[in-house]
Amino acid sequence: MSHSFDLLTAEEIATACAVAKAGYLDHVSDHPAGLEPKLRYPVVQLLEPDRRAPPDAGGNGARLLEVVVLERRTGLVNEVIVDVGSPRVIDWRTVPGVQPPLLIDESGKAIGAMKADPRFVAAVAARGITDMDLVQVDPWPAGNFGLPYDDGRRIVRCIPYQVEDPTDNGYAHPLEGIVGIVDCSSYEVIDVIDSGVVAVPPNSGRYGAADVGPIRDGLRPLEITQPEGPSFVVDGNAVEWLGWTLRFSFNPIEGLVLHQIAYLGRPILDRASIAEMVVPYGAGAATHWWKNAFDVGEWGLGRLTQSLERGCDCLGEIRYADVVLPDEHGGSRVVTNAVCMHEEDFGILWKHVNLWVNDNQVRRNRRFVISFVSTVGNYDYGFFWYFYLDGTIQLEVKLTGILQTGACDQRATEAPDNGSLLAPGLWAPYHQHLFCARLDVTVDGPDNSVEEIDVVGDVGQEFGNAIVTRATLLETERQAQRLANAEISRRWRILNSHAKNALGQPTSYMLVTASPVTLLAQPGSAIAKRAAFATMNLWVTPYHPDERRPAGSHPNQHPGGAGLPEWTAHDRPIVDRPITLWHTFGVSHVPRPEDWPVMPVEYAGFHLRPAGFFDRNPALDLPAHMGDCCEL
Ligand code: CO
Repeated sequence: MSHSFDLLTAEEIATACAVAKAGYLDHVSDHPAGLEPKLRYPVVQLLEPDRRAPPDAGGNGARLLEVVVLERRTGLVNEVIVDVGSPRVIDWRTVPGVQPPLLIDESGKAIGAMKADPRFVAAVAARGITDMDLVQVDPWPAGNFGLPYDDGRRIVRCIPYQVEDPTDNGYAHPLEGIVGIVDCSSYEVIDVIDSGVVAVPPNSGRYGAADVGPIRDGLRPLEITQPEGPSFVVDGNAVEWLGWTLRFSFNPIEGLVLHQIAYLGRPILDRASIAEMVVPYGAGAATHWWKNAFDVGEWGLGRLTQSLERGCDCLGEIRYADVVLPDEHGGSRVVTNAVCMHEEDFGILWKHVNLWVNDNQVRRNRRFVISFVSTVGNYDYGFFWYFYLDGTIQLEVKLTGILQTGACDQRATEAPDNGSLLAPGLWAPYHQHLFCARLDVTVDGPDNSVEEIDVVGDVGQEFGNAIVTRATLLETERQAQRLANAEISRRWRILNSHAKNALGQPTSYMLVTASPVTLLAQPGSAIAKRAAFATMNLWVTPYHPDERRPAGSHPNQHPGGAGLPEWTAHDRPIVDRPITLWHTFGVSHVPRPEDWPVMPVEYAGFHLRPAGFFDRNPALDLPAHMGDCCEL
């Protein structure tokens, strides 16, 4: 049976784009006469049903796709809602002054334009390189800094690296000081900046098995087998695992989206995803100061997802899901093995030795894992959702791949300001990776509230030992713009005042931060305006189906203010109703020599832990002996 969160099919994508194309001239009255529209489809995504609508209204009814249509020459953007069943246009909106994500196609053409530009050729030649085949040009979202070319044109910034051949790690050989700016409609190279020659770092950054010397010995086989198969069942996009149920979909912008997460039939999360992220760089040099990649909204984590390999990316009894992604031209492509599902042992869940009788009771934990990996230029991000036997939900982001680099004096023992030295003449700017999780909560039902809980010492107590918790109900959006505070164990409790546990308390889940970083750029800076979501660890908004991404739907080249700052300006009430939590977390990355030439995984994330959701430890019922267990 079909479900409203079913994965998109190639037919649906083709239909939605064809309907949008056919309707273009009917809906866009000011298209230049006599010119055939040159349309691209940067985003084709499921328009998810309004969670407040009754189930039969959005359940198995119409499949609505949202198509973002870009006219290449005029730059005009339209958002079109297509009912792919009928098929027909349901809604057509022209959106002036916005830029959809960068297109793979236009990025390729911008690179070609750069390599053909005499100013660029001269700048590269000044660093001793004359063969353009040995130059790697990386396109970057341009941002918006109020500069002369930030005038509404669709632009991309480009920076070059030297490579020995296409298999080389170009980030070892940055051509410091060169930045190109290309108009993506005309492919005119607007400007080539050369802030001065720095010698190209000579050392290889290759990291393949053939490049790194002798391979380490002594690793004996470590095999994970489940002779009776895994304990989960996947049916289409529905998953069941030991009491947990959920559905998953795949969005070209956000990547993996989880829906209708419940435990033993009790709802917890209606929707969960990484709805935006930004990687602001913190160095002032010409090649670096403007780097602020919104890898969700400017590129699309979904579009850049990669096929995973059994035994390498994923170990054990794996179930994969393929996904179909739009291809910008109205068609689609399949990414096989894009979503990985498996089960992992996770050590001890609980244990006690009763010393009076030498009785050892121990139960092992395990988790269900659903994940995908997206490669955005030099970086690779793995997004792993974990579900545990005690009701805990966790998101873990794995950050790996290759650092953004710069060239400096090869005799230097320190990097320039705002960065770390990696290798002779090679450095990496300090930067941040700030992720924003969108959590549409539904703890025991749709009407939830959030309390901030601080754990503090109490000065008023006679013996000086008292600990108290301070709970503050977050009543409106402005009050709910919060920073984490590890010193007082601050966490946020999502509660349902209509559902009570055996102790008579509202049932609840706790959002427990693990890496609550916020934006370090100065207030008033371009990036602080554009990534306002990243200035707070928590925002809470009343659920609204149009409020989907925390920096707005079109962050590419946006001057700022869209998304959370705009919505929360209304200071709407957030108590006892369907709400969305937006949690910003991440890493302030001070690169180490060990992060070169490819980074060992760094982790960031958070937990959602039951807190009075159950009446006692919900994992008492686990079987004691799953294998051979030694007696004390
Ligand atoms: Co980093």
